[in-house]
Amino acid sequence: MTTEREIKETVRERYAESARKVTTSGETSCCDSGPTENVISSKLYTTDELQGLPQDAVVASLGCGNPVAMADLHEGDVVLDLGSGGGIDVLLSARRVGPTGKAYGLDMTDEMLELARENQRKAGVTNVEFLKGEMEDMPLPDGSVDVIISNCVVNLSPDKDKVFKEANRVLRPGGRLAIADIVARGDVPQDLRRSLEAWAGCVAGALEEGEYRSKLESAGFTGIEIESLREYTAADAEGAGLGDVLQKYGKKGAEQVGFASVIVRAVRPVLSGAEGPGRSGKAAETPVVATVSESAEPGPGRCC
Ligand SMILES: C[S@@+](CC[C@H](N)C(=O)[O-])C[C@H]1O[C@@H](n2cnc3c(N)ncnc32)[C@H](O)[C@@H]1O
Repeated sequence: MTTEREIKETVRERYAESARKVTTSGETSCCDSGPTENVISSKLYTTDELQGLPQDAVVASLGCGNPVAMADLHEGDVVLDLGSGGGIDVLLSARRVGPTGKAYGLDMTDEMLELARENQRKAGVTNVEFLKGEMEDMPLPDGSVDVIISNCVVNLSPDKDKVFKEANRVLRPGGRLAIADIVARGDVPQDLRRSLEAWAGCVAGALEEGEYRSKLESAGFTGIEIESLREYTAADAEGAGLGDVLQKYGKKGAEQVGFASVIVRAVRPVLSGAEGPGRSGKAAETPVVATVSESAEPGPGRCC
């Protein structure tokens, strides 16, 4: 029986190792397959976006989409990136929200936080803060964030209900989510679900799309849109270093391996009379006022 703690520890160790690889040899790859180029994490960002970012922030990128390109960020917004890794999406968000806004990165892995803070230092940006913590228990007050982004991280959580509940809590009414993630197409074989290696590799914990939607609804989100970015083939899984795992646990030689990268958008609705501080006891420091827009542009995402 695999416990939530075991999953978290395996994930943490895996990404600590990824961070160390970047720090010591400048290499890594999404959901950690090895030193080769990863079809899932490569080519997610345009050359213009990457311009001026520290090389280690780019090399450390382990995402499966480009949530910043899809989040319709505005000057002055407060953004929170769940599982910020080496910090690439936090640094990109900081550019978009400008000096009157703020970009937080949240990560549970010390080595990743160290790398991200070093990347922040190299980038010379001050409207950024990296926080240590778990996305199942976010260290931010109620209603303090305009936009939550995340890149290939929610699938890693053993308790997605908690993640979505916390996301709903820290967002202000009218605040929104733009998450790049992996979803499963159909049932994931039980053996695969139990594989810690596959969990840390972003596949075993992937929700089916309908399940993703219903968990977001249960947490109180509305306006849920799930847009497919890329359906993975067996060759993609192989390229991402997951071929052996999928072969071993029952997704054999299929043209499609039953996983896709998606961008998920949702809104915390504005409900009259039901808002205000006190939902968690983590009181909001400042009321956040910003406009809500739903016009996110699809980007070049290719997924974790
Ligand atoms: C696949 S990497 C993605 C990193 C980053 N979003 C990117 O696009 O490069 C997953 C990251 O999420 C972090 N992480 C995984 N589970 C987490 C959790 N429950 N709470 C906070 N961080 C988590 C890991 O430490 C790791 O840095």
